[in-house]
Amino acid sequence: MGPSSTAIPQKTVEFIRMDEGSKEDYQLLHTLEQRYIEKLPDRILTALDGLKDSLAGYKVTRLEHSLQTATRAEKDGADDELIVAALIHDIGDDLAPENHSQMAAAIIRPYVREQVTWILEMHGIFQMVYYADKLGLNPDERERYRGHKWFDDAEQFCRDWDQLSFDPDYPTLPLSHFKDRVRAIFSRPAFDPEILHATA
Ligand SMILES: [Fe+2]
Ligand SMILES: [Fe+2]
Repeated sequence: MGPSSTAIPQKTVEFIRMDEGSKEDYQLLHTLEQRYIEKLPDRILTALDGLKDSLAGYKVTRLEHSLQTATRAEKDGADDELIVAALIHDIGDDLAPENHSQMAAAIIRPYVREQVTWILEMHGIFQMVYYADKLGLNPDERERYRGHKWFDDAEQFCRDWDQLSFDPDYPTLPLSHFKDRVRAIFSRPAFDPEILHATA
C-alpha cells in the first residue's frame, strides 16, 4: 500500500435521486469517472489473469489459450490492435458464456478500428466450422456473412490463431509481454473517429 492509499473520506454527491443533483454533484462524478476510466487497462489485465481459473477441460487454461492466440498473432506480424484483440477475445467467458464474442467486441469497440471489433464479434460463429458438426450444430453458420468485407479476416483469425491455440507445448509468451500494448490500446481516447475508421 503506497501513500496514495491513505484513507481520506470519499467526497460524495448531495443527492439521493438523480433529478435532484446539482452541477457540482455531476462535475464531481465526472471527475471521479475519468479517474476510474484511467484504471481500465489494470482491470483488463486483472480479468485476463482471472482466466487461469475459468472454463476447464482443455489441455491449456483459458489464460494460456488467450496468450497463445495473441502470441501467434504477433508471430504472424499482426498489428497491435489485432494482437490485443487476440489476447482479450475470450475475456467474456466468465460473465457472458452464451455470447462471449459480443462481450469482447463491446469491451474493445471504443479503442480500435471497426474491422477488429467485427472480427471479435464474429469469432464465435466463425470458430464453429472446426467443431460444431461434432455436437450436431451447424458448422457453416458463418456462411451468412460470406461476401462481407471482413469475412476473410475473421476466417483467418480463427483458422491461424484461435483454433490452433490449445497446445500446451507451444512457446506461449507470458501476460507481462503484452502489458504495454494493453495499456496503450485501452488508454486511447474512446470512439475517436480516426481510430474507428482507420484501415489496417
Ligand atoms: Fe471464443
Ligand atoms: Fe478462443
